[in-house]
Amino acid sequence: MTLKNKHIVLGISGSIAAYKAASLARLLIKAGAEVQIVITPSGKEFITPVTLSTLTGKPVVSEFFTANDGTWHSHVDLGQWADLMLIAPATASTLGKMANGIADNMLITTYMSMKAPVIVAPAMDLDMFAHPATTKNLDILRSYGNIIIEPASGELASHLIGKGRMEEPENILALVEDFFSKQSILSKKKILITAGPTYEKIDPVRFIGNYSSGKMGFSLAEECAVRGAEVTLVAGPVSLKVNHPNITRIDVESAEEMYNASIKVFPSMDTAILCAAVADFRPAEQYEEKVKRGGDILNISLVPNKDIAASLGKMKKANQLLVGFALETNDEESNALKKIVKKNLDFIVLNSLNDAGAGFKYDTNKIAIINRNGERIDFALKSKKEVASDIIDETFR
Ligand code: CTP
Repeated sequence: MTLKNKHIVLGISGSIAAYKAASLARLLIKAGAEVQIVITPSGKEFITPVTLSTLTGKPVVSEFFTANDGTWHSHVDLGQWADLMLIAPATASTLGKMANGIADNMLITTYMSMKAPVIVAPAMDLDMFAHPATTKNLDILRSYGNIIIEPASGELASHLIGKGRMEEPENILALVEDFFSKQSILSKKKILITAGPTYEKIDPVRFIGNYSSGKMGFSLAEECAVRGAEVTLVAGPVSLKVNHPNITRIDVESAEEMYNASIKVFPSMDTAILCAAVADFRPAEQYEEKVKRGGDILNISLVPNKDIAASLGKMKKANQLLVGFALETNDEESNALKKIVKKNLDFIVLNSLNDAGAGFKYDTNKIAIINRNGERIDFALKSKKEVASDIIDETFR
């Protein structure tokens, strides 16, 4: 009974895949969950509430009020009751309403009142799925921290072949089980993540920086948050956004600001993952006014910044984990091992600038994780989201 005592709100919208939601409800119940179905008016055109309520043993919720007797169905109570909201199938219209807060039916009001994580399984015709509006809405939902189960490719109700089929109920069940088992490990853990570059000011308009985009650190923050951790994300200057309620973001600019923010929060953390590309040096002096052209050579003296990782390594208690990153261009493994010792890390994530598709400007990364005993695990080139998942699986194994 992998889902014993779990309360799941199963939202069903108007797609032919709604018939699969009956099997899904049955599988969730067999795995031990209590399931409350919320269905849109058009969902009821595809599958009857009688079938669904017979499977779940609970009346299906669809309207705001029960006709004639004035009973109000509380989406707020459902939002408090649930451990998970699963919306399967989610049509293009439902995705659009979720992304934009158009709360004109019980499913969307329940979604907007939801305190629990939300998993969404889209289903639609291939052209609707490929439309930029759908892509944009899915990106918005991801930024809200919702988990999207990519639809499968195959023959669709239109008889066209392409991507848009709702994932099979057995696979959705496996994902839900996996979600809860991962949550049980990270739930309520406090995790500090540093991300992005730092800017070291030269004068009011210039700085010394680096090419870090912050994507790896933000993917880590999102993955930890989705798994139930309370994340403090100390971010250097990046153009990325996060909306997940489990993420507290502290924006900083320089290495010194990042150091101060990290040192302050670390004592209350269970783990710190230091993904930021921190500048090792800063200009010895910062000019008050813009430096003017003139003369042949401008010398800027640099002084070393504090090493955040090494400082946290000194502060680290036995029950805290410290994970660092190393971006190397040569002698990768021996340099990474030296950093583990020097900074008192538990693991180091090694990325090499020599791997195609890995590094600052890409959405993909190729890493190896090395522990204190020098044991190394190599991973394939993957999306930064998948890499984040691998790093967290290894850290909390
Ligand atoms: N790091 C840090 N503070 C610094 C420099 C680095 O916290 N001032 C962290 C990084 O976030 C990373 C790890 O230390 O997790 C290794 O960073 P890296 O730049 O590879 O190491 P350095 O010690 O700066 O060594 P070098 O640049 O000489 O390779």
